[in-house]
Amino acid sequence: MASSSEIRESFLRFFAEREHERVASGPLVPPNDPTLMFANAGMVQFKDVFTGKESRPYSRATSSQKCIRISGKHNDLENVGVTARHHTFFEMLGNFSFGNYFKQDAIKFAWDYFIDTLGLDPERLVVTVFGGEEGFAPADDEAAAIWKDVTGFPDERIIRCGAKDNFWQMGDTGPCGPCSEIHYCLGLDDIDPRTFGEEPAADGRGWFELWNLVFMQFERHAGGRMDPLPAPSIDTGAGLERIAVVKQGVLSNYDTDLLRPIVDLASEISGKRYRASQSEDDVSMRVIADHARTTAFLISEGVFPDKEGRAYVLRRVMRRAIRHGHRLGIHEPFLHHCALRVVEDMGDVYPQLVERRALIDEITQQEEERFRRTLDRGLQLISDNKEWIDAGGARSLPGKVAFKLYDTYGFPLDLQNVIGEEQGFDVDHAGFDAELAQARQRSQGSKVG
Ligand code: SER
Repeated sequence: MASSSEIRESFLRFFAEREHERVASGPLVPPNDPTLMFANAGMVQFKDVFTGKESRPYSRATSSQKCIRISGKHNDLENVGVTARHHTFFEMLGNFSFGNYFKQDAIKFAWDYFIDTLGLDPERLVVTVFGGEEGFAPADDEAAAIWKDVTGFPDERIIRCGAKDNFWQMGDTGPCGPCSEIHYCLGLDDIDPRTFGEEPAADGRGWFELWNLVFMQFERHAGGRMDPLPAPSIDTGAGLERIAVVKQGVLSNYDTDLLRPIVDLASEISGKRYRASQSEDDVSMRVIADHARTTAFLISEGVFPDKEGRAYVLRRVMRRAIRHGHRLGIHEPFLHHCALRVVEDMGDVYPQLVERRALIDEITQQEEERFRRTLDRGLQLISDNKEWIDAGGARSLPGKVAFKLYDTYGFPLDLQNVIGEEQGFDVDHAGFDAELAQARQRSQGSKVG
């Protein structure tokens, strides 16, 4: 069994030994990039290197990148805690070639690392290649042939997929290209490639993606036009949490050494036993563990919870976590304990966490104290409106109430959705938007949030 620190280090060492520059993670908040709210992949800090706008003294790099996927093209928020795999914050291991090597070497490196270094069982793997789609690129027969040669796989284990899965782009604009993914079959005795693509079981059994190799060839511009990059390049990304699942012999990312200690802390504070199930309590503990990581990392980069933009995204995440703690019966501020656990566990890899430890502690406590003051009143407001919610069998929280919860009590809309899911009602989003627009007009165009 390998710890996540050992896996991270073995990955970076493997590529350093193959002439890749070890580059520290870029920040979560990409500097001077209005197209992206948070770094959502390892390639983000190299975006301009791919397009030729920036040059570096190396043409091969490797990194372990802090990523957040809560907004824009890649948004995993609703699945967090519910599935075994989704996170708002995660670490992406990657190797990059800036006009240096291309498909042949990228595929060979990935295979050698997985099979020879990590010791994964090739019988449990399948690969995918881009099957071609109008408006993107033709089918990637070249990648399919290389995979066949490198792995010795029969055709049924080299699966062709459409642009949705096998054409990667960072956002609406930026470098992009067809990709190939390596998928792993976890926890099943009968490994049948024909079952690939079926939804994994809630406990995490089944096929899931481990590594994505992007063959960067184009830059997409606003309006959709794609131009070729100065040189074909490579961008790969493998989720550290997912590799840890495989190497640590567990089914869920939340049972790896990256997340389980925070889940256990939530369990200890709430006095509720964690059973690694789909029960509401267990989902809540997983949400808290995930959101505590996002909280600690964003505050360490100087993002503080507030009303707009990134600050508001952080506030939503923190308030969701606090609400889940409240649901578990935790009556005192607790999220800062979980965030400090993140500092303890990851501070050696990301020293900014240690440098900003006091700030993480203080800001998290303050936000929780502030929100707790209104949480009970807001929940009361929902229960007072039960009549409305139930009226006509529609079970919908009226837009007016939703807006009051948001505006007066600081309940972000998606938190209302979470409560609605638990209590079995929808939120009238259109009504909410109308109220919001009116409020904005009243304040003569100044932003409410
Ligand atoms: N950019 C690709 C991804 O995020 C590979 O790193 O999957």
